[in-house]
Amino acid sequence: APRSRGAAARSTTPVEPGPPVQEGSDWSAWPTYNSAELGFRNYWYPTIWAHQVQQKPVPITLAGERVVLVRDGDTVRGLHDRCPHRGVPLSLGRRQFPGTISCAYHGWTFGLETGKLDAVITDGPDSPICGKISVATYPVEERLGLLWVYIGDVEPGEEPPPVERDIPTELTENTLVLGGRSEVRDGNWRFGAENGFDEGHAKYLHNTALWRLFKVMPTWNKTRIVEKDGWLIRVQDELHYEAEFPGVGTFTNKRWWKRVPLPDHPDKNGDANPVIAAMDIPGFVSVRMPGLLRVAYPKFIHYEWYVPVDADHVRYVQLMVRFETGATALAFKAKYLSAFRWLFHGQFTRQDAWMVNVTDAPPERLYRPDLSINAWRRHVEQIKPVVQPTERRVGH
Ligand code: FES
Repeated sequence: APRSRGAAARSTTPVEPGPPVQEGSDWSAWPTYNSAELGFRNYWYPTIWAHQVQQKPVPITLAGERVVLVRDGDTVRGLHDRCPHRGVPLSLGRRQFPGTISCAYHGWTFGLETGKLDAVITDGPDSPICGKISVATYPVEERLGLLWVYIGDVEPGEEPPPVERDIPTELTENTLVLGGRSEVRDGNWRFGAENGFDEGHAKYLHNTALWRLFKVMPTWNKTRIVEKDGWLIRVQDELHYEAEFPGVGTFTNKRWWKRVPLPDHPDKNGDANPVIAAMDIPGFVSVRMPGLLRVAYPKFIHYEWYVPVDADHVRYVQLMVRFETGATALAFKAKYLSAFRWLFHGQFTRQDAWMVNVTDAPPERLYRPDLSINAWRRHVEQIKPVVQPTERRVGH
């Protein structure tokens, strides 16, 4: 049911993002963010699809750390991808004994669950080094078809926080159907996150996207940022068209965002998805830690995670989710595979990838619509997450 503007005001906290135009041109106002080239520790990050890890171990880089993902029956384990003997990647190793991986070079054999050196094939059964050495392990969970890896400090005998903490509740509590892509792209993760939440780019960069033949972008300049349940939400009260913004392109008046059941734009025609309506997030574009964008369309939600790989690469994990079952879910899946995957998760977001790769800031000189970028940076400063050090040596 439509909610009133008053209800929204009570449930959210307005965010004062600071002056939209920064005097300085560096990032000294955002010291935590500035140092987070490799992202933050103590978060779960989505990585590759679970079905991509079969018999062969798969190496990935996450927040600057080399991790090998190894299937062990129904579960997937994560180990530091470096043999402590002479530094050969364990991802090149052999699966000779159940529950272990053997380094391809001299056969040091590590338990997948503990990371402990269980056997040394080339030194006999009484090798004195056995049990004295281990490789670091990484907690891995499978959710939504993806492998989530925890980057953080877990004391021996302790557990990391549940992975659900870092996945939007709407994705863990509802029946849904999804399509998605996970790919590594050029550029630092922060440019990915900033680009996603940047209201100005939606007005201009994507004017030439084929996706916009079907879904039209609004244009606005009276943005408010509010905070709710850990989400930083962009709320636009005024919408504009070609006449007021000459050069942004002609819009077809298919105003889909009006049909997202927002408190300020209640759903009048009754065709909004009831699950989306129940989520009560008063805006259609929002962002949250550690770098997740959410765009609510009337009947589905698009998510994109900006997962730090290294200083110059970001893993884009895109999901398009519809909260349906049965025939409607199947139809959505078919539509995703035949069209959305190419139009939206392909050509449209490759325009983002292009700009993320060529962005070269700081220095920078911001303008009015950049208040959304500033709000995101300030949000990070307020949370003060643990920054992933750029010179991190994973211990053994
Ligand atoms: Fe791995 Fe020698 S380098 S066993």
